[in-house]
Amino acid sequence: MSSNLRLGVNIDHVATVRNARGSAYPDPVRAAKLAEEAGADGITAHLREDRRHIGDADIERLAAELTVPLNFEMAATDEMQAIALRHKPHAVCIVPEKREERTTEGGLEVAREENRLAHFIAPLRDAGCRVSIFIAADRAQIEAANRIGAAVVELHTGAYCDFHSEGEFKERDDELQRLREMASFAHSLGLEVHAGHGLTYDTVKPVAAFPEVMELNIGHFLIGEAIFRGLKDSISEMKRLMQEARA
Ligand code: PXP
Repeated sequence: MSSNLRLGVNIDHVATVRNARGSAYPDPVRAAKLAEEAGADGITAHLREDRRHIGDADIERLAAELTVPLNFEMAATDEMQAIALRHKPHAVCIVPEKREERTTEGGLEVAREENRLAHFIAPLRDAGCRVSIFIAADRAQIEAANRIGAAVVELHTGAYCDFHSEGEFKERDDELQRLREMASFAHSLGLEVHAGHGLTYDTVKPVAAFPEVMELNIGHFLIGEAIFRGLKDSISEMKRLMQEARA
């Protein structure tokens, strides 16, 4: 069964396990290659300022060795811009980053930083990278992302996923409705729409069913599930659910 919905597999947390012991294994690049074999349409890796999981050498190897597109997640800093311009990955996804957070907690504040971000992404676009902006499902942020010249917006699905696990069905449904409307709004402006954060086998299908969504980026759940069923099976089951939702 074919589908126009792509799965980007985020391999950050393979590096989290490696770094917990300061060892050379498990190798995130090996995981990325297995993910390719399992049907991942792209690999996502977030080089954080504090290098808590993915490191510079991982990015070098991913850029050199992958056969599917690399989506390089990064904060809007000069250091990350220079790294991205050196590697020229297929895509860069600009995310907010705070040292004290456990994960990327919210979307980027584009509307308040429009000028700075417009200047920041211009050289990345000129270098041929598809620039994606990770934002909340919010009309003002989508309009600002469009004005600064982003090609893609990735909608943050974290709130929807959190409500799902806590059984707050009204809030979950409201959040899903907001995502649905904003996916459609972003698409109407000509932006390509991606989504991700916190997605699991239980939460993926309603989001995968939005016809405007072209790519889901999923990591933490898949790497965790790999402990029980193996990485390839963990990923191919996610793809199967995505395709089922889309069909
Ligand atoms: N998309 C973006 C922009 C992210 O920052 C992350 C987390 O690194 C993900 C998707 C994947 O989220 P998760 O690991 O919860 O699946």
